[in-house]
Amino acid sequence: MYYKIKEPASEAEFKHYYHLRWQLLRAPWNQPEGSEVDDIEDLCFHLMAVDNSNQIIAVARLQFNSDSEAQIRYMAVAKPYRVKGIGRELVKVLEQHAQNSSCKIIVLDARESAVGFYQKLGYRIVDKSYLLFDEIQHFRMIKKLDTNL
Ligand SMILES: CC(C)(COP(=O)(O)OP(=O)(O)OC[C@H]1O[C@@H](n2cnc3c(N)ncnc32)[C@H](O)[C@@H]1OP(=O)(O)O)[C@@H](O)C(=O)NCCC(=O)NCCS
Repeated sequence: MYYKIKEPASEAEFKHYYHLRWQLLRAPWNQPEGSEVDDIEDLCFHLMAVDNSNQIIAVARLQFNSDSEAQIRYMAVAKPYRVKGIGRELVKVLEQHAQNSSCKIIVLDARESAVGFYQKLGYRIVDKSYLLFDEIQHFRMIKKLDTNL
């Protein structure tokens, strides 16, 4: 299956990027449009996957918690495109970016349903974290980046 991973660049691309983030991670829990955006977006590294007609099919974000720690957030692949390796590829590029930014560790809060995905990518659970919308249990996971690369 053809897809390409790139950074959203234009205003139109960002609009579609946030819309898909909302559709996949907020709308199913009746959260209003706008609830998918926070106040540090401008400081973050954003990635999306597009199909052969340039439609956005996946989104992901990396934020920087300190000089050495990055965090993956708002990661989602549209349903018809799941389990085709797109999530793995997005995380790989986020990790490369974190490494190029001198980060030593990546943390994230995984939905319970996504814990197995992150475990396959080398992340391990360190704690139970928050409950989103009173129902989605999250788990704090970490991965130390290979500093020998
Ligand atoms: C979790 C998610 C991002 C995974 O993306 P994806 O593109 O489907 O994952 P990939 O195809 O790259 O899968 C990589 C590996 O993880 C496995 N995997 C994928 N989703 C999984 C899941 N939910 N649980 C366990 N394993 C999973 C795949 O089978 C694959 O294993 P393999 O290498 O042995 O073949 C995607 O399912 C999704 O968007 N889910 C809904 C939103 C969400 O939960 N986002 C995360 C918020 S914390």
